Amino acid sequence: ATEAEEKDLVIIGGGVAGYVAAIKAGQAGLKVACIEKRGALGGTCLNVGCIPSKSLLNNSHLYHTILHDTKNRGIEVGDVKLNLQQMMKAKETSVSGLTKGIEFLFKKNNVEYIKGTGAFADEHTVAVNLIDGGETSVRGKNIIIATGSEATPFPGLTIDEKRVVTSTGAIALKEVPKKMVVIGGGIIGLEMGSVWSRLGAEVTVVEFLGQIGGPGMDTEISKMTQKILQKQGMKFKLNTKVTKGDDSGDTIKISVEAAKGGKEETVSFSALVAQAYQLTYSQLDADVVLVAIGRRPYTAGLGVENIGLETDERGRLVIDQEYRTKHPHIRVIGDCTFGPMLAHKAEEEAVAAVEFITKNYGHVNYNAIPSVMYTHPEVAWVGQTEAEVKNSGVKYNVGSFPFSANSRAKTNLDTEGIVKFIADAETDRILGIHIVGPNAGEMIAEGTLALEYGASSEDVARTSHAHPTLAEAFKEAAMATHAKAIHY
Ligand code: FAD
Ligand code: NAI
Repeated sequence: ATEAEEKDLVIIGGGVAGYVAAIKAGQAGLKVACIEKRGALGGTCLNVGCIPSKSLLNNSHLYHTILHDTKNRGIEVGDVKLNLQQMMKAKETSVSGLTKGIEFLFKKNNVEYIKGTGAFADEHTVAVNLIDGGETSVRGKNIIIATGSEATPFPGLTIDEKRVVTSTGAIALKEVPKKMVVIGGGIIGLEMGSVWSRLGAEVTVVEFLGQIGGPGMDTEISKMTQKILQKQGMKFKLNTKVTKGDDSGDTIKISVEAAKGGKEETVSFSALVAQAYQLTYSQLDADVVLVAIGRRPYTAGLGVENIGLETDERGRLVIDQEYRTKHPHIRVIGDCTFGPMLAHKAEEEAVAAVEFITKNYGHVNYNAIPSVMYTHPEVAWVGQTEAEVKNSGVKYNVGSFPFSANSRAKTNLDTEGIVKFIADAETDRILGIHIVGPNAGEMIAEGTLALEYGASSEDVARTSHAHPTLAEAFKEAAMATHAKAIHY
């Protein structure tokens, strides 16, 4: 950019939120610039998140299947060896293909790509410290902040991305650890824990809550998932908190204690008695520790304080329903503001924010954002959990169907899991859909569409689904919600 050149829209951050907004704005004919500091487009998702983790999940699943699940399928294999370096190369090929693809889309849609770190000089001007040296600045009639998020650190453990890692180190380990401790049994912990467990590590997941998968996962589905992952070899310590970590020796020592007992420490005599019975201090040894206790908004160095923008207690930039900050021409989307930290949520917001600029209206249905955990089997859901529906006081019906009764799952010898529908008992409107099972991540698209269209479980049940497909389990769960399934 030339010195302080004015654009219709300046976007800070070239992750999913930023790059999608840039393309959408370019398509609408706006003069748009996107500033990105990492030297590649696509943000966390493409470079160190969704894409590399799914590459490793897919290939480690193949490896694990070939090792353990071929004989009964009539396939005899010889020596099976892991070539981790090649597996990492395959991952890098997927990543670089996709990030370069976005550069191409920028050119196609006349988006100016500025490689550097942006910071607010004033309400309309972003100063850029260029990667290749030097500085420039760019003025925007409108500005979108899309600076994303970063891993929340664990106090007392220094992240070196080699032995004490976040997901960024966990997607790039040079060898398979013997013992891996995962702090946090949320989505990152379970996905990356699965990868290294399949490749041969002994993985122990320590989770503060009483269930895995994070608070968004339906409890019944979470329990089922935990059993399946345990069968695959992963170990879990629930209701347990890590109190400290010591990485000074050859192995890292992680101290844990029962979460309940820990809370009651030294409060009263009864608490002391409770403590004596409940507290179980123990120590876990690990070669690699993965810190996966959540992510936090990233706005470091952006200079939001220079222009008086507010953040909430969790560091999220405060916005209104049209993504506007207190300066209405500055909007915020993606991980650095409210809502689930998901790439497809960021993408929806990007389109809506640009539509607010170009057309004065935009829309995201936050009740119909699907979640997918890409373990095997996958776990996917949309809408409310059963606990949420129960707490809301609405009368509801539950219908479920097991993959063990689905013909395609049986032919695939891949029958673990269920589809579960929750519908309003009076109107039959679908309130939530929860799946653990093969292909759950693709199947949830149908559930999301049903929710978006306000469908009843009967609407889905009366829709023809091809035979033999896994999707028939979806239809039969809908049948079981308002009437009865045929095959179970
Ligand atoms: P980001 O992708 O974080 O992009 C922000 C960008 O802004 C970054 O590239 C950063 O370098 C840049 N930036 C920051 N500050 C500045 C500045 N001052 N100047 C210039 N540039 C700046 N989500 C899913 O939906 N599905 C998944 O399967 C999935 N898997 C994941 C796996 C892992 C291991 C992780 C960590 C995350 C995963 N996510 C997944 C979450 C997903 O990556 C995020 O929700 C998504 O990347 C958010 O997009 P964003 O554009 O808001 O932020
Ligand atoms: P998370 O919020 O999903 O899970 C963190 C877990 O750590 C929670 O279950 C929490 O109870 C637990 N925890 C917190 N402090 C702890 C402590 N001291 N000791 C033990 N446990 C503790 O966060 P995660 O897994 O780090 O992922 C971050 C974000 O990235 C998520 O919000 C998710 O949306 C996104 N993501 C999405 C993926 C997908 O869509 N497939 C894949 C990976 C990440």
